[in-house]
Amino acid sequence: MIAVSTPNFTLDAVFESMADLPVFPKVVHKALQVLDDPKKKISDVSEIIKFDQGLVANILKLTNSAIFGLRQQVTDLDTALALLGNQKIREVLVAGAAMPYLSRPLSGYEMAPEDLWLHSMSCAVVSGVISKRIGFTDSSTLFTTAILHDIGKIVLDIYVGPRLGEVLMISKQRGNSFSEAEWSVLGTDHAVAGAAILTNWDFPPDICRAVRNHHDPDLYIQDRLSACLALSNIMSIQLGFGVGTDGFRYHISPALLKAAGCGQEDYYWCMDHAITSFYEAEKLLNMIMD
Ligand SMILES: [Fe+2]
Repeated sequence: MIAVSTPNFTLDAVFESMADLPVFPKVVHKALQVLDDPKKKISDVSEIIKFDQGLVANILKLTNSAIFGLRQQVTDLDTALALLGNQKIREVLVAGAAMPYLSRPLSGYEMAPEDLWLHSMSCAVVSGVISKRIGFTDSSTLFTTAILHDIGKIVLDIYVGPRLGEVLMISKQRGNSFSEAEWSVLGTDHAVAGAAILTNWDFPPDICRAVRNHHDPDLYIQDRLSACLALSNIMSIQLGFGVGTDGFRYHISPALLKAAGCGQEDYYWCMDHAITSFYEAEKLLNMIMD
């Protein structure tokens, strides 16, 4: 018999904590809208974001990383945007804006400052490998979703910490995933918190839904974006990238592969290629340690 106290946690406390979070930069949403408008030019994107110096600095760091694959180092925003092209600009914008949120220590999850950032980027990198292999056309949306899928941890961290022992004990004794154990102890999990944060930040419903679903086996097989996110996340966990106490007891079911449109052979291919990509992702560590 497991001695676990009754959940005394309410979502109200999570929502109150969210009020303290800085808002996701509105200029990024505006820039993404510009990229959707065929009448606008790449230089219009630059006009929107150039005054956010922190964002521009992060964009340049990412643009010069191996992840985005440019052959030359760039030092100014206009050149970076011109070389990246529409799809990679979307990815760099979201990753650059998310970096300050994701590169902070999460003591409740026993995660060092670089852990969540590395896991999120790794998940995004493997999502790119999957998109390419299975022909998932909305790869930029999947990339965005992968970058932000664990954002709920930055709010839930303060609630997990004091009860981490209970969460880990439940997970171990019942054979549950960390997320299932979070539900048992806290009455919610970081996926629900993350979806609420992204809704507050005006992200599209399909992205919020995929983040909400990413640990729920019944929900993440309901749509392809959710399935591809869950698959990317589990693969990055299986490869051991920056997941703190959260990195165990997740497995890939035939139903998940089917919902993602990913065959068994595709899965093995993606694992193999993701390893190479992860070596590149690891170099991103240096960016936040500067
Ligand atoms: Fe997660």
